[in-house]
Amino acid sequence: MKVLIKNGYIVDPSQGIDGVGEILIEEGKIKEVREHRSGGRRDKAEGLLLEEEFKVIDATGLYVFPGLVDMHVHLREPGFEYKETIKTGTLAAVRGGFTSLCCMPNTKPVNDNETVTEFILRKAYAEGACYVFPIGAITKGQRGEELAEMGMMYEAGCVAFSDDGMPVMNSLLMRRALEYSKRFGVPIISHAEDINLSAGGVMNEGMVSLSLGLRGIPAEAEVVMIKRDIELARLTGGRLHIAHVSTAEGVRAVRDAKKEGLPVTAETCPHYFTLTEDAVRGYKTKAKVNPPLRTDKDIEAIKEGLSDGTIDVIATDHAPHHRDEKICEFDRAAFGISGIETALSLGLTLVRDGVLSLPGLVEKMSLNPARILNIRKGTLKVGEDADITIIDLNKKWKVEPERFASKGKNTPFEGFILEGLPVITICKGKIYERDN
Ligand code: DOR
Repeated sequence: MKVLIKNGYIVDPSQGIDGVGEILIEEGKIKEVREHRSGGRRDKAEGLLLEEEFKVIDATGLYVFPGLVDMHVHLREPGFEYKETIKTGTLAAVRGGFTSLCCMPNTKPVNDNETVTEFILRKAYAEGACYVFPIGAITKGQRGEELAEMGMMYEAGCVAFSDDGMPVMNSLLMRRALEYSKRFGVPIISHAEDINLSAGGVMNEGMVSLSLGLRGIPAEAEVVMIKRDIELARLTGGRLHIAHVSTAEGVRAVRDAKKEGLPVTAETCPHYFTLTEDAVRGYKTKAKVNPPLRTDKDIEAIKEGLSDGTIDVIATDHAPHHRDEKICEFDRAAFGISGIETALSLGLTLVRDGVLSLPGLVEKMSLNPARILNIRKGTLKVGEDADITIIDLNKKWKVEPERFASKGKNTPFEGFILEGLPVITICKGKIYERDN
């Protein structure tokens, strides 16, 4: 297949491209990229184009990004296929503009050995609409008792390790994981939560939890674990990545660690810079997520952290659940938001608010996660896979979960009118179109 993307506004921070131009794709790879301002080469390439058969995509007025990379997704397969499968989760990803994702290990069985890793990779190769990079568990069964076979899983294709969904409460095990991971040069991703502090909590601890009569999770449950893990990164020199930062103090801790030059990176998720604990009012289980939605003050700090580079990545923590797990009492409902089909539009609010530039957003949603995970993604460089997202920045659309490709319809953004839509996603040689 040969594809020519014409007249799109290309934003590729990996090579400093920020302007209108053309991209030529051949056999699923980027064959040529050129900006109009670079002059003469345009004619030469156009001559070449006339001779051959192309599918031409006219991207006039549209923006062209390297395919988005989501480093925090729950695909649920194996074991929880009623919530999501590798097929539906990756279809949701491309609908959201993502061409690569990392899947967390809290499946059944847990991805804590190479057999499960190989299963996921085989299935993703055969059925996945986008590329899938598995994240292996730090501890066997995510039970926090003994280290999993990290070496074997790394050999099988895991790009990072995490017990996400659960913290590693045992500090010695976390130390060993950080030490061991240095052999492979991969990050340890911390689900930063002190479960003794958060125990039984279902939302942020504060005035809203008090008025709703719900048990709260204090910000400190996140902050003390971020600080512990930073200390362990200092002790070991291992690479630490903090998942889903939700608190102002968490942002500050990461900022201080980075100032010291410690090997620490961090991510947040769209719901942590767009919604507060108020979204839970009315016992709305769709806004129940872990860590919980916090306060305006936290949102401000997260935006500052994104803007000054403290927070490297916007990941979705896409956590699809069955409707029966959400349509129930708040206390019993599952934690999680189906977020991969709304993330880009929510990320674009940061550009409109002046928090990030457009290249800055592409860094957070494509280039930086690829760099942290050391995968050859997040770029439109010649010779790389043609993973491309084409965006209509002005297109307004209504969030209607029944249209989601994901099996998880659990979104607190239902009914919101969002602006900016990934209208075309190109991945694995296929072109996916979306108009709402
Ligand atoms: O809200 C969440 N849902 N947070 C997590 O850490 C895990 C996730 C899930 O697996 O559903």
